Amino acid sequence: MNIILLGPPGAGKGTQAQKLVEERGMVQLSTGDMLRAARTSGTEMGNKVAAIMDSGELVTDEIVIGLIEEQLNTATGNGFIFDGFPRTLGQADALGELLASHGQSLDAVIELAVNDDVLVERILNRAKEAVAAGGTARADDNEESLKVRLMEYYKKTSPLIGYYYAKGDLKSVDGLGAIEEVAAEISTVLGG
Ligand code: AP5
Repeated sequence: MNIILLGPPGAGKGTQAQKLVEERGMVQLSTGDMLRAARTSGTEMGNKVAAIMDSGELVTDEIVIGLIEEQLNTATGNGFIFDGFPRTLGQADALGELLASHGQSLDAVIELAVNDDVLVERILNRAKEAVAAGGTARADDNEESLKVRLMEYYKKTSPLIGYYYAKGDLKSVDGLGAIEEVAAEISTVLGG
């Protein structure tokens, strides 16, 4: 089974992807995590995307499609969870083509529906908790970058809701409940 978790920053995509990995042995493909790993290891690509990510803007389609293609060629498991990808219509078309070229398809696109006030609260709380625990907050978990992240989402990513609805793949889940409640709803959508 291959699924997309779709939603704005703080919707819970990463949190729910982790639960699916634990419960179903699926493989989480998070482009955000891949890009942060590239930055930490100091690759040329990582250095190139650092300032863009910190500002809250999206990196180019070419870079993230390349990262996903690499994973589809190498990763194995009980299906893929696309977390934070696709984020543009170009990425969505590319994913369809990549899956088809691997003899695969999408089984569901799960939209985590939340409201903006909750997103801001979750992200700023995560930053506070990281600092309180003696660490550092994600460089884009601050009010200024978050405004840009939300704007990027509404301008470039939210059209994917209509795109996947029209394809008949979209399922909407209430992302405002407790983590376990959201997980249970996703499980129901995926057929238990
Ligand atoms: P990415 O890493 O994908 O970040 P994001 O989507 O902006 O947001 P988050 O990871 O913060 O949100 P999430 O929905 O995963 O929520 P989470 O589970 O973490 O991308 C970062 C950057 O990389 C982008 O801005 C861009 O620059 C670049 N990038 C990545 N992919 C790209 C692409 N495809 N194209 C171009 N550029 C790309 O939860 C958030 C918090 O809420 C946590 O503290 C969690 O504990 C809490 N929480 C989660 N669920 C609940 C719940 N149900 N109740 C209460 N709290 C909850």
